[in-house]
Amino acid sequence: MDKKEELKKQAAEKAVEEIQSGMVVGLGTGSTVYYALQKIAELIKNGQLNEIVGIPSSKQTEKLADEMRIPLTTFEEHQKIDVTIDGADEIDKYLNLIKGGGGALLREKILAQASKKLVIVADESKLSPKLGTRWAVPIEVIKFAYPLEMEFVKTLAGEPELRMYDNLNEPVITDEGNYILDVNFGTIRNPFELASKLESRAGIVEHGLFLHLAAKVIVAKEEGIKIFEKK
Ligand code: A5P
Repeated sequence: MDKKEELKKQAAEKAVEEIQSGMVVGLGTGSTVYYALQKIAELIKNGQLNEIVGIPSSKQTEKLADEMRIPLTTFEEHQKIDVTIDGADEIDKYLNLIKGGGGALLREKILAQASKKLVIVADESKLSPKLGTRWAVPIEVIKFAYPLEMEFVKTLAGEPELRMYDNLNEPVITDEGNYILDVNFGTIRNPFELASKLESRAGIVEHGLFLHLAAKVIVAKEEGIKIFEKK
């Protein structure tokens, strides 16, 4: 395992310490969360975690959790999540995030809003002085409206790209049947103002700015694990 993967694994395993028997656990999406799923499965198997149920944030995570025999539930059964563990694409010093690199931002935000505690796991490459410095903002739009929303984000000085499948001349379809625009706004001066403008558009289902949602960020660095908590 290369160094970066080792760091992702360390952060993910540290986050799993937040989970106690009997909890409803939100299961995020991505390559860092994968290591958390592995650890949760191991603790269930050896009897150290009992009666936990997970709510997956994507079909991809649902499949992995099934394969790993992590019991799953739905919002029909449980409307409150005790702790969600998820990854991020960019993290600023206020614990605001850009998410959605894996295309699961809509369900991920639903989980985040339903969680008593959102714990983010990442390697140090995700830390950023200001959101937008290293990642475009993924924006989920309904298919019908996508050309209009591409024009709209240009009026906010964004450069949109319709997300396409690698090696396929087709747009990516999300778990909820929508398209994704990756919009490069450059360094974002005021993410709250941008979020509110995006939320005013009927054709935009959700955006990847996760503001004031993370309670804790666990970052694995070469020199050790660093934990940032919401003040
Ligand atoms: C999924 O839509 C994303 O929000 C992921 O959580 C994010 O892209 C982090 O993924 P990695 O852990 O694979 O970098």
